[in-house]
Amino acid sequence: MNTQAYSRILGSGFVTGEVVIDNHRLARVFDTSDEWIRERSGIEQRYFVKEGTATSDLGVGAAKKALEDAKVKPEEIDYIVVATMTPDHYFPGVGPQLQAKLGMGTIPTLDIRQQCSGFVYGMQVCDALIRSGAAKRLLFVGCEIHSNFFPLSKVGWDIVMGRSDAKIDPAELERNNNHRGVLVLFGDAAGALVMGPTEDPQRGFLGYSLHTDGQDMKTLYAAAPGFAYRPYNNQAHIDEQLFVPQMEGKTVFKMAVTKMPESVREVCEKVGVQVSELDLLVPHQANLRISAGVQKSLKLPDEKVYNNIQRYGNTTAATIPIAYDECMKAGRIKPGNLVCFTALGAGFHWGAALMRA
Ligand code: UT7
Repeated sequence: MNTQAYSRILGSGFVTGEVVIDNHRLARVFDTSDEWIRERSGIEQRYFVKEGTATSDLGVGAAKKALEDAKVKPEEIDYIVVATMTPDHYFPGVGPQLQAKLGMGTIPTLDIRQQCSGFVYGMQVCDALIRSGAAKRLLFVGCEIHSNFFPLSKVGWDIVMGRSDAKIDPAELERNNNHRGVLVLFGDAAGALVMGPTEDPQRGFLGYSLHTDGQDMKTLYAAAPGFAYRPYNNQAHIDEQLFVPQMEGKTVFKMAVTKMPESVREVCEKVGVQVSELDLLVPHQANLRISAGVQKSLKLPDEKVYNNIQRYGNTTAATIPIAYDECMKAGRIKPGNLVCFTALGAGFHWGAALMRA
């Protein structure tokens, strides 16, 4: 076991769904408005995939960009970790598909499912794999297709995707309204990192603060399909639209603005740095107002907090690698910078990861 090595990010990349969907498009299939969505969430647009594109396809796209950025060949990768809550199929996970589509031989793959916290949880897993010597060139992908949660008819899809100017059927509009609080938030995308060891203890991942509280699991969940039912998928699930995520938005909001700053403070304390020493905070992109609340609680100035939810919506496990990639490419993360990642999501799972770039 090589416990001397620390791990760091060697490269990153991301892709989005092919079709940009602005708020006005959504306002044609349920009662909402561009103004409401911007005001409550900061979101201006999101991307949806075209029919036929699967979560693993987005993952492959992001992986290829990260490999190119890291100047690492696919055959050099010796471990794949994937975070997603929207796999192509109920089982197996997306890891095997990514491995096969990228032609990576029989290297191990691991799927983790911590929803919006998937990436901060996964950072600890990847770091541990590298530090133990189990992996030397690791591919870590966060990929999601949320648009397929939409309970739309064919006509509804044609309207959203810009293929039809028809008006939505009033009965469908009414049904869609039941889910409008959730449906406005999410987008399709994937982000990826290539990670590897470094002998420099000053650079790389420094520590984590991770938590789970399953007491209020039903505050944010998709009730069906699932193995709590016999059979695990049935007509009633479809009739009652139980496959669309249900969320008590205000409760999740309050949890996020409390627990995310708490975990940032906790990881800083563990590592022995002050929150004020952070050069950049990359919060999971759930809502611009949540990010603003976290920023205020931590007393960080605007230039130290990165947000891009305006352009992508909430892409769950993909938000953090996308934000990281944008920050790197824009020169907002420089060698030596102290960068903190934080997230909260369904489970509830939440936490923070701290690294020195
Ligand atoms: O990634 C982690 C998971 N998710 C989150 O972190 C999300 C956390 N929660 C939130 O971001 C916010 O709670 C939302 C953006 C989801 C909702 O904002 P809110 O300020 O909590 O609104 P609300 O649910 O309390 O709804 C306020 C009003 C209601 O109308 P009345 O009862 O005041 O007449 C809703 O029916 O807004 C209505 N509403 C909408 N109106 C237009 C709810 N959704 C919509 C909508 N468009 N999409």
